[in-house]
Amino acid sequence: MAPLRRVLRYGFELIERPFDRLFGPALNPLAQLGALGFFFFWIVAVSGIYLFIFFDTGIERAYQSVEWMTNVHWYHAGVMRTLHRYASDLMVVMVACHLLREFAYDRYRGARWFSWFTGLPIIWMLYASGITGYWLVWDKLAQYVALVSSELLDWLPIFGEPIARNFISTGTLTSRFFTLMVFMHVAVPLFLLFGMWVHIIRISRPKINPPRMLAALSLIALTAVSLWKPALSQGRVDLAQYPASVGLDWFYLPLYPLTNIWGNGAVWAFLGVFSLMMGMMPWLPPLRRAKAAAIDLDHCNGCERCVQDCPYEAIRMVRRTDNLPFPTQAQVNPALCVSCGICVGACPSSTPFRRTEDLKTGIDLPDYSLKELRERVVEVAATLKGPTRVMVLACEKGGGAGQLTGTVAMPCVAMAPPSLIDFILSKNLADGVAVAGCAESACYNRLGVAWTEQRFAGERDPYLRARVPRERLRTIWTSALQTRTFEAELAEFTAEVAALPPPKPRGAASPQPVAPPSVPQAAANETENRSAPL
Ligand code: HEM
Ligand code: SF4
Ligand code: SF4
Repeated sequence: MAPLRRVLRYGFELIERPFDRLFGPALNPLAQLGALGFFFFWIVAVSGIYLFIFFDTGIERAYQSVEWMTNVHWYHAGVMRTLHRYASDLMVVMVACHLLREFAYDRYRGARWFSWFTGLPIIWMLYASGITGYWLVWDKLAQYVALVSSELLDWLPIFGEPIARNFISTGTLTSRFFTLMVFMHVAVPLFLLFGMWVHIIRISRPKINPPRMLAALSLIALTAVSLWKPALSQGRVDLAQYPASVGLDWFYLPLYPLTNIWGNGAVWAFLGVFSLMMGMMPWLPPLRRAKAAAIDLDHCNGCERCVQDCPYEAIRMVRRTDNLPFPTQAQVNPALCVSCGICVGACPSSTPFRRTEDLKTGIDLPDYSLKELRERVVEVAATLKGPTRVMVLACEKGGGAGQLTGTVAMPCVAMAPPSLIDFILSKNLADGVAVAGCAESACYNRLGVAWTEQRFAGERDPYLRARVPRERLRTIWTSALQTRTFEAELAEFTAEVAALPPPKPRGAASPQPVAPPSVPQAAANETENRSAPL
């Protein structure tokens, strides 16, 4: 799978990075595919409710009512019909691009399997909604859809009597069957909405609304296309004749012609293998998982910052189980934790200024603790040569990770508490610090870039202290494939730092012990780290 992922990733990056420059990372549509999926769902839902006001659910008058909307009341009901159809098509496009992108960026394995796995029923329900929708127009395409769908269903040993018989001649078609389709077309999207909700319950602050500007532009474009090229029916049904040539909707019906070529059994086999493969993807091969974050109650004051910052809903607050004077404590669910370390960067106890033996924090990664991170910083500082020493704190997934010297890598840059920057600069371990993570619109850990920016800007706890010289700090957000851009930005920053007057005072090049916090430990941590915003 890795070579396939790499090729796809390259393809996405080829479009995404220029889009970043064109629209800005926040408005990049490729970073909003899930949110746009929700947005188009709402357009489909609202336009569908509107159409239902004018739609006649009886089999004899259904076609007529749709024609009336399209031709007579085209300026409202006709436009709504077209919006309904095109937004449904766009949902398919969004879902396809969205799942390919999550695959390309490898955000579907390990603890993240759930969102992928729950995407599978969404695909089925989306198609069931679309196909039953075509049925309701009761034109020649509807007849074709009805015939092929019922033959497909008849192939499965579910129904006592073959349902395809309903569509062979006028006498056999029952209104009850048509009413069932109307019911399905309303009920399945409701299940789809439920499925979409389940799909995102394991991630915190999911982006379910695109930025207003993007939503407005999409709606305007969709309305313009609806006026220019309205959705039309394909002629009244004639059950006495097989609908030999109909125009297909290739978004929803690409497999329908295959039933003629391959046969129904082969189409079912294809769908079965596709679903099985999709369902198994998160384990093909399984991701090697680091140990989940662990809580050290002696250093936890129940401040909830880790809960706020975890992108995967892996932490919750529970009643205190020790004697410290706080009502709650953090608790990690290891099944949901991806070991990104963002919570470590959020915890007020994560203070690198402490003595080595005291360098414990409320929440830490067993495989790469804050203490190890600080040791690594000190080690790398000793290797920095030349007149301008710039240290790179790099996310393993971003552009800076490939840097060989002067780099301290970690699972996500948001693992580094802002006090680590303060520590590096105030202890004169480097002349400048570059914090390097994924491209802004494609953070591997969803919120790592945003939280880092907000902490540095004083908008989010823990703040970067005002005393930290901002001219000696630079954030570089580039993807792993943008190594040249990364190097150019780093060189530019190094030149800027070189032009600065020497830092004052220049202290010793090793960490200085500071007084250990008094008891209760966790209470002290909280006050110690509530640095003032800028
Ligand atoms: C109507 C269809 C769908 C909608 C509206 C939708 C929506 C979303 C949204 C809003 C997110 C959260 C994005 C974020 O804030 O980071 C998300 C994440 C995700 N979705 Fe979908 N999705 C849909 C279908 C699918 C399908 C079919 C798949 C794959 C089979 C899929 C796989 C994923 C994965 C892997 C994630 C990432 C979870 C993570 O970051 O841990 N989605 N989706
Ligand atoms: S390391 Fe922390 S922030 Fe990251 S998933 Fe685990 S608990 Fe959440
Ligand atoms: S003290 Fe640390 S571990 Fe405890 S709730 Fe706050 S951030 Fe989480």
